Amino acid sequence: MQCEVQTGDLLGVTADLAVLLYAEDESLPSAVAALCEPEDTTGRWQSQTLIYPRGALPARRLLLIGMGKRSAITADTVRQAAALAVRYAKDAKVATFYLGYNGNPPLTPAVFGQAFAEGSVLGAYRYTRYKSDAEEQPTQKAVLQAATDADEAAAGVRRGQTIALATAFARDLANGPGNDVTPAFLGQTALALGERYGMKTMVLDKAQLIEQGFGGILAVGQGSANEPRFIVMEYGSPDQGPPICLVGKGITFDTGGISIKPAEKMDDMKMDMSGAAAVFGAMQAVAELQLPLYVVGIVCAAENMPSATAYRPGDIIRTLSGKTVEVLNTDAEGRIVLADGLFYAQRYQPAAIVDLATLTGAIMIALGPHAIGMMGNNQELANRLIAAGEATAERVWQLPLWDEYRDAMKSEIADLKNTGGRYGGAITAAGFLAAFVGDYPWAHLDIAGTAWVEKPNRTYQSRGATGVGVRLLVELLQGYVGQQS
Ligand code: BES
Ligand code: MN
Ligand code: ZN
Repeated sequence: MQCEVQTGDLLGVTADLAVLLYAEDESLPSAVAALCEPEDTTGRWQSQTLIYPRGALPARRLLLIGMGKRSAITADTVRQAAALAVRYAKDAKVATFYLGYNGNPPLTPAVFGQAFAEGSVLGAYRYTRYKSDAEEQPTQKAVLQAATDADEAAAGVRRGQTIALATAFARDLANGPGNDVTPAFLGQTALALGERYGMKTMVLDKAQLIEQGFGGILAVGQGSANEPRFIVMEYGSPDQGPPICLVGKGITFDTGGISIKPAEKMDDMKMDMSGAAAVFGAMQAVAELQLPLYVVGIVCAAENMPSATAYRPGDIIRTLSGKTVEVLNTDAEGRIVLADGLFYAQRYQPAAIVDLATLTGAIMIALGPHAIGMMGNNQELANRLIAAGEATAERVWQLPLWDEYRDAMKSEIADLKNTGGRYGGAITAAGFLAAFVGDYPWAHLDIAGTAWVEKPNRTYQSRGATGVGVRLLVELLQGYVGQQS
């Protein structure tokens, strides 16, 4: 999907498909109104009306998409409308479509352009990597018809395209099956990214993890023939001040280990590296956008398998921090690998640490698929993430992290235990993580409910991985530009 901007009136464009977005409380141009029945063009949100102008306008097809009330139009409704247009164009086998807003758009040209490109690229995304008979997709083109400020709109479109491609990259990783997307594969992916963007990259293999004492990642990975990796990607440099560290859970497949999961839906657990995927996507976007920031991406990659060499319930392990953990349930593995990643992040004396993890089923119970669960130790950072969530529609909902939740993770015989009981499970998980970040500003994002959709909640999603976190992180990081010191 290629996105472009062109100036001029949409209704003057010669095209196979022109798409006009219009609000229900704004009137259609008379040339369009003359071609349709008013009761068919209510402007109701997501309504679609197809018109064949047959010479009355230069376009062969005109698709009207209702946006609801003008005051309710946001970047996300534009994203979704663009994805509807893409879907229509695909079905109609139209290679290039032109999209414009009826009159004066309610968003700035840059925001509108970005949302248009994000919706177009993400709406066109399908995971076809393993389909032998996948139809050759002709490159589609989405052209934004900008009435004014085409330069600003074009900058927004370029930005949106870059961010959406990074999101698609994250989706590809999380959709990838566990037999191919292994910890070693994630290591190679990091090296390839580093090569392409000139980022300093480090991938530690099992021998190096043993040497350096990454007891958490090693314990979780010890049951698998696919050996664990610890990955660090650095964009920018220390000259730019203390970095922002992004830490991703990279469990390439989560069987639960000896505390094995039920068979039903276990296949979905190939997505248990969605946090890592978001970190990869964000690093790509940040490099493509050349944000003037120092950003460190950290991925804790392991496969959680039951075997003769697997870690077991009751084991006590020593993490990188030196803190010991009593393993009560081998299926609570994400927090164990993150313990090493979060502790490692402290050596950068970071301005902020944000971790992303498909950490708990409990967050799905609490919030369903509609928000990322957030817990942390710093309200300023939390507020930034909440604002970024609003801007990107990757909504973030904060839960408390009172001392009681941290206390729930204390073990009788070790420093910590890895489960804190059934109730408040998403928060006690965060209570565990809190023991490894010291006093650095930190936010934990539990994306277990938002990283994967069986049925899309937005028109720009497709079944499978959502790539959640990439757009959120880029928005967060953008907010630090000019502020890092
Ligand atoms: N990866 C799972 C959490 C998960 C569940 C992600 C469903 C996406 C969809 C995680 O490792 C896990 O198994 N968590 C356990 C923790 C429990 C044993 C304390 C859970 O939530 O049941
Ligand atoms: Mn698990
Ligand atoms: Zn897991």
